[in-house]
Amino acid sequence: MIKVKNLSKTYQNGYQALTNVSFEIQPGEFVYCVGPSGSGKSTLFKALSREIEFSFGSVELNQFRVEKIPARKLYQLRREIGIVGQDDLLLEQTTCFENVAFSLRALGINQKEIKERARAALEQVGMLAYQKHYPAELSIGQRKKITIARALVNQPSIILADEPTANLDNKSSVDIMKLFLKIHQKGTTILLATHDSTMVNSIRKRVIELKEGNLIRDDHLGGYSSFFDPKDVYVW
Ligand SMILES: Nc1ncnc2c1ncn2[C@@H]1O[C@H](COP(=O)(O)OP(=O)(O)OP(=O)(O)O)[C@@H](O)[C@H]1O
Ligand SMILES: [Mg+2]
Repeated sequence: MIKVKNLSKTYQNGYQALTNVSFEIQPGEFVYCVGPSGSGKSTLFKALSREIEFSFGSVELNQFRVEKIPARKLYQLRREIGIVGQDDLLLEQTTCFENVAFSLRALGINQKEIKERARAALEQVGMLAYQKHYPAELSIGQRKKITIARALVNQPSIILADEPTANLDNKSSVDIMKLFLKIHQKGTTILLATHDSTMVNSIRKRVIELKEGNLIRDDHLGGYSSFFDPKDVYVW
């Protein structure tokens, strides 16, 4: 469950990136977040995971009041959320397995379980065969799958995916979206930012739309915009 109330964020340079944003997402929902570049999508996602502090408003995420969590307890929030960031930020000097296992190492889990859980996450994204490869040896789509496996390894109830299909060709985008749908079908709540109007219009889900930091649409019937887009293809 995500409850955002009057969320505002002003960056240090005075730029107001979010203004009074409010919405609720129920457990198990799949929601797209759309809006032009600079509209505040990444800022919103970073506020939800407390990667950045926000200036005003409140965020409830499952049992947490996000703005009230002391820094030393933030790890508890982060365990609840799987983050697929706009930048992959993989550890380039270590294998795909280690990239996925990394976040489990700090939890005091034994080696056997770390191995099982990391392998299961890699399996889920179809990348187990690449566990010994280094990130530099992968395609962009494969790297994205590793970041998704990394997000899944703690079995989070919520996934925040920030433009996971950016820079991918059509087939890889469809592959990645299928993966998110599969994860969603298992009951995980998904908030996914995207510019991909074809995808949003093809796989119809609830859509929230930001414009210049304001939430201007919350549409349960979905669609990238209220206008027909001649590029749309319906593949599902
Ligand atoms: N650290 C920062 N300091 C000041 N302004 C920032 C900072 N980060 C982002 N902004 C500004 O906040 C606004 C929203 O940025 P944000 O990254 O949230 O947009 P976005 O919707 O994710 O865009 P994109 O689709 O290009 O990823 C932009 O105008 C950006 O310039
Ligand atoms: Mg962004």
